[in-house]
Amino acid sequence: MTTTLISGGTVVSATGRVEADVLVDGERIVAVLQPGSELMGTDVAASADRVIDATGKYVIPGGIDAHTHMQLPFGGTEASDTFESGTIAAAHGGTTSIIDFAVQTYGQRIEDGLAAWHEKAGGNCAIDYGFHQIVGDVNEASLEAMKRLPDEGITSFKMFMAYPGVFYSDDAQILKAMQVSRDTGLLTMMHAENGPAIDVLAAQLVDAGKTDPYYHGIARAWEMEEEATHRAIMLAKLTGAPLYVVHVSAKQAVEQLAWARDKGQNVYGETCPQYLYLSLEDQLGAKSDEWGAFEGAKWVCSTPLRSRAEGHQDSMWQALRTNDLQMVSTDHCPFCMKDQKELGLGDFRKIPNGIGSIEHRMDLMYQGVVTGEITLERWVELTSTTPARMFGLYGRKGVIQPGADADIVVYDPNGHTSIGLDKTHHMNMDYSAWEGYEIDGKVDTVMSRGRVVVENDTFTGAAGHGQYLKRGLSQYLI
Ligand code: URP
Ligand code: ZN
Ligand code: ZN
Repeated sequence: MTTTLISGGTVVSATGRVEADVLVDGERIVAVLQPGSELMGTDVAASADRVIDATGKYVIPGGIDAHTHMQLPFGGTEASDTFESGTIAAAHGGTTSIIDFAVQTYGQRIEDGLAAWHEKAGGNCAIDYGFHQIVGDVNEASLEAMKRLPDEGITSFKMFMAYPGVFYSDDAQILKAMQVSRDTGLLTMMHAENGPAIDVLAAQLVDAGKTDPYYHGIARAWEMEEEATHRAIMLAKLTGAPLYVVHVSAKQAVEQLAWARDKGQNVYGETCPQYLYLSLEDQLGAKSDEWGAFEGAKWVCSTPLRSRAEGHQDSMWQALRTNDLQMVSTDHCPFCMKDQKELGLGDFRKIPNGIGSIEHRMDLMYQGVVTGEITLERWVELTSTTPARMFGLYGRKGVIQPGADADIVVYDPNGHTSIGLDKTHHMNMDYSAWEGYEIDGKVDTVMSRGRVVVENDTFTGAAGHGQYLKRGLSQYLI
C-alpha cells in the first residue's frame, strides 16, 4: 500500500488546532504525529512513498455536503449536475463526501426510488456518497419500507410541507412518518414551508402581473417558513421524532428551532451559503442585457433568499455561532439559465427551484472565518464534523485521527480564490450564482480515501472512485 505523509501543516479539528504531520497508509489515516517524528525507529518522512508539504497551510477533514440533488427531476426538467460532474466539482472545492436525496415519487415504491438512485450514482462518483430518502408518498407500504431503510445504510428521510402536487405531505402523513422516525431512530428531515398557502399567494401575484423572479421570494414569505417550522416542531414533539429542518433561511424559523432546543427537544437545523451571503434585495436589483429582470431567476430557490433589511442573514451567522443551527450544506440543485431556468419566463412559478454551490461551500464558509463570523474550528465543525455526527458517519469521516478514512483537505490561508463561471467553476451550469465572489483562501490539495483527487487546481481522481456510504443512526441526538 502507498504511504503519504502530509507534513508541516496545522491540523484543525472542531475542538482545536495543532502542528502535526498526518500519515496515511492506503485508504486510512494511521497516525497524527509530532512534526519530524520517528515511528518505531524510522524517519517517517524518509520512508513515506510521498510527502505533501503543508507548511503554512491548514490540514482539515474533507468537507461533507449533506444536502445535494444530483440529476433530480424537478420543475419540469432535471438538475444539471450528474453524479460525475457534481462530485468532481465537489472535490475541487474540498468536499469529499456528499449525501444526496434518493427520491420516492408519488405512486412509486420506496424500494424502486432508491434502486433508481443507486443506478444513477453507482460507478459514477469521484468521492464517497450516501443517500437520504425522500418520502413523497406516505402510505402503508412506504411506512413499512421506511423501517427497512437502516439496513440499506439510510438513516434519515426528507418530507415536504411545500410543493403541493409534487412532494407535498399533509400533516396526517407527516405524523405517521414521524411515528416511524420515533420507533426506528430515523432522522426526520423537513422542508418547512406552508406550500398550500404559498401557492395561493403565488397565484395572486401572477394574476396581478407580478411575474418576475423576485416575486418568488415575496410569495414564499418568512411567515410561511416560521409557521411550518413551528408545526413540524410540534408534530415532532407529539410523536417523539428527532427533527432536522433543512435549508433554514428565516430568522423567525431559527427562533422556533432555538425555542424547541431550549426545551430539550431533539431539533436541529442547517442553513446554506445562499442564506448567509445573498438577499432578496440582490435578486430585485439583478438585471442584465441578456435577461433583463429575469436575471433574478439565477437565485430562485426554496426556501427563498430573504431580505437583508430584515436581518435574516445576520441571524443565520449568529445561529451558526450559538449552535442554534448546527450545519451548513449547499442544497446543491443546479439548473442552467438556457432551457431550464428560462422555463419560468413570464411566470416565476415555473422557474426550476435551486442554486448550485457544491464547489464553493468550503471556500464561502472559510471567508466567514476571515471576516470573523466564525472561528477556524467552527468552520471545520459546521462543514465536516457535525455533518458526520448528524448523519452517522463520524469516526470514519469528519475527523483526522488514526483509523479514519484519509479524506483530507490541505487549505491555504495565503491563497486566493476568484469564483465565477470562467475562473474556478466545474459545475455543469451556464452561470454561477457566486459570480465575482473573492475568497481569501484556497483549496490546495484534496485527498479522498488516500487518493489525491485534486492538486494544482487539477482533478487527478476518477469517476467511480467514490464508494457508497452505509450510514449508521445519528450520533448527534440528545
Ligand atoms: O430550491 C431548492 N431547494 N431546490 C431543491 C429541492 C429542495 O426543496 O430542497
Ligand atoms: Zn427542500
Ligand atoms: Zn434540497
